[in-house]
Amino acid sequence: MNWNRIILIGFMGTGKTTIGILLAEKLQIPFIDTDDVIETDLGRTITDIFTRDGEPFFRSHEDKVVRKALQNDSVVMATGGGVITNPDTYRFMKERGIVISLDASMDVLWSRLQDSENRPMLKKQYPKEQMLHLYQSRQPLYEQAHYSFLVDDKAPAEIMNEIVDLIKKEGNG
Ligand code: S3P
Repeated sequence: MNWNRIILIGFMGTGKTTIGILLAEKLQIPFIDTDDVIETDLGRTITDIFTRDGEPFFRSHEDKVVRKALQNDSVVMATGGGVITNPDTYRFMKERGIVISLDASMDVLWSRLQDSENRPMLKKQYPKEQMLHLYQSRQPLYEQAHYSFLVDDKAPAEIMNEIVDLIKKEGNG
């Protein structure tokens, strides 16, 4: 298990980016947000990529970005919520680092996401139903992470400290 590469997964709205930035600062290692890299690489927003090229194109680019990011010896990587739907990407992440799932209840996430404009996976006629469907279908995948933390009412810094404690306890440094 490589504790120098920490990979955050979890549903949209669980705070992967916010917590990841705090964690990387604390550990003093680089931070990479795969959605940001994809947008920079392609010079377009995630919404535009989904609309014009579709999800399979996005997932295949996401896989390349994940593989490149995990060439770093040390990194905190925040992923997009659907990264776990590509089994090859998920397997690779678990081989290369410690995969930590950030979990939250459907109610908490819905209150955070209902007004979100930049989440193409929720841009459907019935966004709440769509979200529930995605949430339920992805739950068994998030459960396959190495570790998981319940974020619900906790501040990002609190979760970050819990992850740091885990690394101190279980990690190699
Ligand atoms: C997605 C989540 C998004 C982004 C894209 C697809 C998903 O990332 O990768 O819109 O399939 O759940 P966040 O989890 O950071 O919102």
